[in-house]
Amino acid sequence: MATLIIKDLHAEVEGKEILKGVNLTLNGGETHAIMGPNGTGKSTLASVIMGHPRFTVTKGSITLDGENVLEMETDERARAGLFLAMQSPAEVPGVTNSDFIKTAMNARLKDDEKLSLFKFIRAYDKAVQELKMNEDLPHRYLNEGFSGGEKKRNEILQMKMLKPKIAILDEIDSGLDIDALKIVGENVTSMKGNDLGLLLITHYQRLLDYIHAEHVHVMMKGQIVRSGGVELMQKIDDQGYDWLKEELGIDDERVLHEEEERIILGSCATKEALEKK
Ligand SMILES: Nc1ncnc2c1ncn2[C@@H]1O[C@H](COP(=O)(O)OP(=O)(O)OP(=O)(O)O)[C@@H](O)[C@H]1O
Ligand SMILES: [Mg+2]
Repeated sequence: MATLIIKDLHAEVEGKEILKGVNLTLNGGETHAIMGPNGTGKSTLASVIMGHPRFTVTKGSITLDGENVLEMETDERARAGLFLAMQSPAEVPGVTNSDFIKTAMNARLKDDEKLSLFKFIRAYDKAVQELKMNEDLPHRYLNEGFSGGEKKRNEILQMKMLKPKIAILDEIDSGLDIDALKIVGENVTSMKGNDLGLLLITHYQRLLDYIHAEHVHVMMKGQIVRSGGVELMQKIDDQGYDWLKEELGIDDERVLHEEEERIILGSCATKEALEKK
């Protein structure tokens, strides 16, 4: 059973602190949901756990079964059993969907092990069917021209094939029609067990109708400000966040304000323009 422990995690982008002391423990067999208004650091937390190079961790720790995750490269984190289904999966022209997953699976094997092509194809076809995806998918380039919903199902296809120990699903429900949400929910639920710790990032209680979570956390200002059970999510679904902000004495729940965002985004654009020269 895997255990992911996040302690007092601080991280910044372009010198601006986005995560301001996140604490979270996620064990195999548990499902936690993180919710919170837009721009409060949820996706940043997911990116930092996976080691996105844009973010710098300035304080705190992340360990997986006692191993220091922050010292690992992104591919090592994936090999160690961490998985992220992204809020907006990238399109990768030139790499077919099945090649991508095959490469990821091969990368996780030890030097003397070999992925059986026969077993791979059988498992892949089964997963495509269980997710009710189009059968031309294996031959198409990764996410290229995929509809929003197809991209989300494709993230779950990767999860089914890679069988992570800890999976973070960032807004897996966004863009899914109600039938697709049911299919994705059933597929994720069927993977539940002591070998999987799940972290769901979502805005809506509806996702939990399909994937049950025992723990609910609310993020504001780059921190987890309240934790509870499903009743916490239910209350927010009914009443919004104002009551909680009032209780906590928070006026503005976002991490950055418009002015700061403009400066960061502006400097990124300038940097990219300079790098192109
Ligand atoms: N690469 C980046 N460059 C500049 N700013 C960033 C970057 N990544 C995140 N931020 C800023 O950090 C803040 C938190 O963003 P994040 O994506 O973590 O929010 P979120 O809680 O996931 O919001 P949402 O619910 O809208 O998905 C935002 O103000 C965002 O603009
Ligand atoms: Mg987000």
